[in-house]
Amino acid sequence: MKNLNQIESEILNKIENAKNRNTYDIIKIEIFGKKGIITELFKKIGSLSQNERKEYASKLNSLKAKLTEILEQKLIDFDQSEINEKLKNEKIDITLSGRTYFAGKIHPVSQVIDEATSIFSEIGFSVEEGPDVENEYYNFSALNTPEDHPAKDMHDTFYLEHSKDLLLRTHTSPVQIRTMLKSKPPFKIIAPGRTYRHDSDQTHSPMFHQLEGLHIDKNVNMGHLKGCLYYFVKKFFEVEKVKIRFRPSHFPFTEPSAEVDIGYKIQDGKIKIGEGDKWLEILGCGMVHPNVLKNAKVNSKQYQGYAFGVGIDRLAMLKYGINDLRAFFESDIRWLEFYGFDPLDVPTNYRGLSR
Ligand code: PHE
Repeated sequence: MKNLNQIESEILNKIENAKNRNTYDIIKIEIFGKKGIITELFKKIGSLSQNERKEYASKLNSLKAKLTEILEQKLIDFDQSEINEKLKNEKIDITLSGRTYFAGKIHPVSQVIDEATSIFSEIGFSVEEGPDVENEYYNFSALNTPEDHPAKDMHDTFYLEHSKDLLLRTHTSPVQIRTMLKSKPPFKIIAPGRTYRHDSDQTHSPMFHQLEGLHIDKNVNMGHLKGCLYYFVKKFFEVEKVKIRFRPSHFPFTEPSAEVDIGYKIQDGKIKIGEGDKWLEILGCGMVHPNVLKNAKVNSKQYQGYAFGVGIDRLAMLKYGINDLRAFFESDIRWLEFYGFDPLDVPTNYRGLSR
């Protein structure tokens, strides 16, 4: 009979070589099956002498226990590596990202209109609106514009086809007339909106934006006009010191009339408002002409006041350092992504405007 130690090392060798479940099962049968090595050894116990029997049986039993344990461990190892294998091959990607939320941006023009509106409303102005398609009367005649005024020329004004009467408003001033005609003085309003002129270059676009202001009461004078505009410019540009210049000018609907420039300089490629010796025109203004008040059914003996018209796009260019006006209206999403403003309620998974 073979030495038990030798048998043990042979069996351990076999188990060691069991590389998968199939060979494992075969080896297990070879060891513990009906005719397995260990089974056969047990059968032989009977043929041993009384003396040998006890020692042999106990050795054989502990060998059996040892092998059983090794085989069980092997089985656990097989299961584990099977799981690992599965994990590796059947990986489910649960990291798929959620649906992206595309939030838009606020256009600089809308932003400036909002800012200006809130500044003027702090000092008692309310907001009025008028149509983009105006008639000749509100846009020109009621505003005291003479028949032969160059602004009325087809080269400056967009008239609707086949019409001498309907046009795209060339300024927000017709809202002055509409406002005064629909109620009684005093009036203290602003009217932001689109305006149109036959013009296109770096600082002019055929469609642009203005913000009209009108303040009519019993003792409103030019000092109030200056005070109001100083207040606005300081607040809007967020500067304490501003340089403003009132230049005498002419508008048919105001007398006296002025154009307002603000002082600025360019420093390190950036525009600085309120310093320096360059001037940029931002608005037209003046005391409302008595003829305009008359056309708007306001008694010019009792009431007087000022009006102004600010170029919104110019303000946006100045405040936010945008140097080509035409880009405002090209609807280039990348431009808006860069120059636009975040709405207040940007969702947390906001990822910009990428498509
Ligand atoms: N309507 C004028 C323009 O478009 C501006 C202006 C408004 C001037 C009100 C005086 C008073 O240029």
